[in-house]
Amino acid sequence: MSVVPSKYKIVVVPGDGIGREVTPEAVKVLKACEEVITGLNFEFIEFEAGAMYYLKNLKEEYPPELLPTCRESHGIIFGAVGWQDARWPDGTYAGAKLIFDVRFGLDLYANVRPCRLYPNVPTPIKKEPKDVNMVIIRENTECLYQGIGGRLNRGGESELAIDVRVLTRKGCERVIRYAFELARSLPHGAPVDGKKRVTCIDKSNVLKGCVFWREVFNKVGQEYPDIEKDYAYVDAWTQWAIRRPEWYNVCVTSNMFGDIITDLAAAIQGGLGLAPSIQVGDKLAMAEPVHGSAPKYYGKRVANPLASILSVMWLMRYFQTKYQDKAAAEAATRIETAVIELLEEGKVLPRDLGGSARTDEVGDEIARKVKGIQVTI
Ligand code: NAI
Ligand code: MG
Repeated sequence: MSVVPSKYKIVVVPGDGIGREVTPEAVKVLKACEEVITGLNFEFIEFEAGAMYYLKNLKEEYPPELLPTCRESHGIIFGAVGWQDARWPDGTYAGAKLIFDVRFGLDLYANVRPCRLYPNVPTPIKKEPKDVNMVIIRENTECLYQGIGGRLNRGGESELAIDVRVLTRKGCERVIRYAFELARSLPHGAPVDGKKRVTCIDKSNVLKGCVFWREVFNKVGQEYPDIEKDYAYVDAWTQWAIRRPEWYNVCVTSNMFGDIITDLAAAIQGGLGLAPSIQVGDKLAMAEPVHGSAPKYYGKRVANPLASILSVMWLMRYFQTKYQDKAAAEAATRIETAVIELLEEGKVLPRDLGGSARTDEVGDEIARKVKGIQVTI
């Protein structure tokens, strides 16, 4: 186990669009925690990067110091990328390179997407907050996103396109092991019966890669006799997630399936304004809301900062587990309690939740609450 750092070095990359509005609110909330929690200290190092940065220089999406600084940090707070029609000369959208260089360059292999329905949040499914509390883990470095493939006979009748799906034993093992470890460390099991359960989501009735994925799941799962193993084909999972979300505790799946089903999970938990994530590697983790840069909202200060704030809450949970840090645990508890209070009161709500509070007003209110909450850890 690693020693608790005297100061967490955190790289802040707001990126583009509303990333620039929600990220400062998440930092504000951590600063409020720092003020009231003994032994919790941060050093924030901010970088401009992404598509808007690219438009200024037309050469690069991020400064060369960014990745080396991230490698020496304990964690990263990322906003979002993508800006209108900002593209590289070859047509690819500016901002994507930053995302993939960070993800692959720092080997952030587990994309952890908690799906919890908080009180007073409208959901399109007929469920109560107590029924929805799962964490979906998406493999983050392999599968169809390796960019292996190409096109032949462009424009012709025999044109074809190929994308190759890559799964390695190491890549599958580490993310599946992460899922079992997380299930062990979470304070709650599945809402339906309190059981600690890891669901393997694949399409192993059809795809060879998925047969392999399931074999690895079963092998790793043998090391965790205390945790129930559960299986779902990805298509069936989507309807079960709506009909019986209370069955799920921790779910683990490969990259593309995870990309798709976590948008479904975001809808169940009340929309992208409330969907947090952290991307975890062996050395560090990155907090990042699931949403993108929503360019049409940029500058209006209507974006909901809670997804970003809940992402840093999960970064604190990551520090709690990695360093056995009670101060980080206290920060996470304060932040989540503040978010629940804000939603229960229903007075300072952002536009997507039916209110009229500006992005910074929501951040101010969470920061104020965080300081006032009494916690015993
Ligand atoms: P988006 O997530 O930016 O926005 C989709 C819609 O969701 C918005 O129009 C808005 O109605 C709602 N929304 C998202 N975040 C919200 C928030 N914090 N508060 C309130 N409402 C919110 O996805 P979209 O429109 O498909 O993409 C916009 C840009 O973002 C594109 O350039 C895209 O490539 C990029 N993008 C970047 C991601 C990242 O940085 N990881 C992820 C997804 C998209
Ligand atoms: Mg997606």
